[in-house]
Amino acid sequence: MEQKSLKNQNYYEVAKALIHALELKDPYTSGHSFRVYKMAKEIGKIYELDEESQISIEGGALLHDIGKVGIRDSILLKPASLTFEEFRIMKTHVVLGADIVSQCDSLKHCLEPVLFHHERIDGKGYPHGLKGDEIPLIAKITCVVDSYDAMTTNRVYTPARTPSEALKELQRCTGSQFDHEVIEAFTQWWQEKNSASEKIIEVIDSENINLDLDECHSN
Ligand SMILES: [Fe+2]
Repeated sequence: MEQKSLKNQNYYEVAKALIHALELKDPYTSGHSFRVYKMAKEIGKIYELDEESQISIEGGALLHDIGKVGIRDSILLKPASLTFEEFRIMKTHVVLGADIVSQCDSLKHCLEPVLFHHERIDGKGYPHGLKGDEIPLIAKITCVVDSYDAMTTNRVYTPARTPSEALKELQRCTGSQFDHEVIEAFTQWWQEKNSASEKIIEVIDSENINLDLDECHSN
């Protein structure tokens, strides 16, 4: 057990160093990998994944875009839409990432989310055009949280959507891009998270009301 947790710690240190290297190259995605990691971890808990799958989804989500270190800057950092050929090259980041994590024993468990996070339920994704349950669950979860974070983050030519707009867009693409059950789990997590923030806002509001009343009394 102790050996296993040491192994986990070791993989996490290596993964963090790799992500740091990616973010030095592409500061624009700074924070994205860790947000995707945190959300994938939460959705994994909703699924009550076994320990091995939970470790795989966390590591895989953190490293999902690590292959972008192999994409040349003129494409990765291009402040405009990519041409067809540039997009073809950009799409190779999943295979490059799979190659990177396969070369390190302590990262091999991260392979599925790295390689398959751009597959789509309808088979129109890449790199293999896998359909439905051919796509591993931990990759389907990574795909959803990656898309959610991308939509709610400001990018050069795409301003951020609000969390509710992004959730609606995920739900609209259920069954084509995203897995129905994963979207249900994500929605459950999203609603719990947002109702928790609403409660905090309610408490703050009620404290403000009390403050206002106190002020009224003092007048
Ligand atoms: Fe990606």
